[in-house]
Amino acid sequence: MASVLSFFATTTVLALFIFGCCSTANAQLSPTFYSKTCPNLLTVVRTAMNQAVTKERRMGASILRLFFHDCFVNGCDASILLDDTASFTGEKNAFPNRNSTRGFEVIDTIKTRVEAACNATVSCADILALAARDGVVLLGGTSWTVPLGRRDARTASQSDANNQLPPPTADLAALISTFSAKGLSAQDMTALSGAHTIGQAQCSSFANRIYNEANIDPSFATTRKASCPATSNTNLAPFDTTPNSFDNDYYKALVGRRGLLHSDQQLFNNGTQDALVRTYSTNVAAFNRDFAAAMVKMSQISPLTGTKGEIRSNCRLVN
Ligand code: HEM
Repeated sequence: MASVLSFFATTTVLALFIFGCCSTANAQLSPTFYSKTCPNLLTVVRTAMNQAVTKERRMGASILRLFFHDCFVNGCDASILLDDTASFTGEKNAFPNRNSTRGFEVIDTIKTRVEAACNATVSCADILALAARDGVVLLGGTSWTVPLGRRDARTASQSDANNQLPPPTADLAALISTFSAKGLSAQDMTALSGAHTIGQAQCSSFANRIYNEANIDPSFATTRKASCPATSNTNLAPFDTTPNSFDNDYYKALVGRRGLLHSDQQLFNNGTQDALVRTYSTNVAAFNRDFAAAMVKMSQISPLTGTKGEIRSNCRLVN
């Protein structure tokens, strides 16, 4: 009897191990994925990001945005890094990306160094996930442990990039549903929007707000109009007063009705996220905690694992 019981116990444990461990996308990735095959990976990425951010502080923001635009379009699979060719249309020229996403050369540099250290081992998708985390840390933000083991897509979709990334004209309900479609809660959405504590936006992304909206601090609108005509142009403006510091100033701006994008101010406009925005505006520890947790969640959207996809040799091209 004892041996029968022990057989069932062992079988159950084995079954849990085999099926339980990998039933969610999350469980497929692991922070130690390259610990034997590329032990210096984290140092190589951090060193290169340090150089890039020292050269231009905004690069930390640009790489973070690249990662978001990768993950929201069919998962974190480096699809955004693929160049268009005569026979291939990728995501770089989709509306949210065209003349706007930047930092591709930095990822190229990191990939070259990673290939030199560990040939044909590390995916571009994992490099982007690590680089995004490092950009945040280098600008004074919180850190998190990056799950690894993503593989690179052999396809990309311009139409999915157009349809799945939220536009700056989105209202609160649309923002919540866009994130919900990716398995992220309204709280995740509000915390992740705190990424706008770093970086800049072009006048074309916020001209309508500063000229036509009522829920805006009038002196903030006047200041922004000085370099952004109603007809709009490509001039840049920071999202908050400290665009090179990853802090909670973005939420203070929202509470003061100084959100730059229409979509930013939607988080504080007498709606369901007002209380959380107020909390983040006064409690940087709460923002850091929720941002880090939401980044880990976002970083695990539909990864390609196992034998799916490939390890690209050049992040811009399928092998
Ligand atoms: C909530 C919905 C979001 C909308 C509607 C949105 C929209 C935008 C827009 C329109 C810009 C400026 C683009 C330009 O004018 O060229 C921008 C910049 C940026 N976004 Fe978002 N975004 C959202 C969420 C996020 C998330 C979740 C992240 C990252 C976790 C993120 C990170 C950034 C960063 C860092 C920049 C500045 C990039 C730079 O300076 O190069 N955004 N976003």
